[in-house]
Amino acid sequence: MYAYDHSGEYGRPGWIVPLGRRDSRGASVQGSNNDIPAPNNTLPTIITKFKLQGLDIVDLVALLGSHTIGDSRCTSFRQRLYNQTGNGLPDFTLDASYAAALRPRCPRSGGDQNLFFLDPVTPFRFDNQYYKNLLAHRGLLSSDEVLLTGGNPATAELVELYAADQDIFFAHFARSMVKMGNISPLTGGNGEVRTNCRRVNHNY
Ligand code: HEM
Repeated sequence: MYAYDHSGEYGRPGWIVPLGRRDSRGASVQGSNNDIPAPNNTLPTIITKFKLQGLDIVDLVALLGSHTIGDSRCTSFRQRLYNQTGNGLPDFTLDASYAAALRPRCPRSGGDQNLFFLDPVTPFRFDNQYYKNLLAHRGLLSSDEVLLTGGNPATAELVELYAADQDIFFAHFARSMVKMGNISPLTGGNGEVRTNCRRVNHNY
């Protein structure tokens, strides 16, 4: 049994959320642009950005497994379909038939906001299908696929591990979620301990 395993319902990962974190009262566009990786960043850049937050390679590969649910806009991956490296060719690490299926609703121009499942195989199930998609070169974002193809054997091995063993993925995911939740909390009188996570603050 893993220390962070708080067995989720219906076979999903679960964990005990430490309470009392002081969070910012507003969002920061600058902070997010500087600190959060972009979907077209290279793997070394993504690794560096995670490291700056105290998150290692295991955290990176495990947390990205959250892309087993949710959507992406066309604009976040368009360049992979048409002109990945500026040579007018699609991303050769993207399965050609998957790319062809994406193009009609994500044309060269227009349709920017059209939504696509990050995991089209089991879009509503939190499972390890994301990693199986990567092995089939069907990761939607470049930042997803590079975990396998970005030239780092450690991230590639973790993709293979999580694709083969959902329990290990869940255990690592739960541990890394707690770790991510502990990144540089505000202290003293700064920010607030949220009592209502649904409250929206429009400070920007
Ligand atoms: C290298 C790091 C990451 C990159 C580059 C990245 C990038 C993205 C992008 C581009 C989208 C689609 C947004 C859009 O087009 O509007 C997305 C969606 C999403 N991401 Fe990430 N992400 C990263 C890490 C994470 C992490 C650490 C988590 C949580 C543990 C996460 C959870 C999600 C979820 C749940 C969605 C779907 C949102 C929705 O359906 O509304 N991502 N991500």
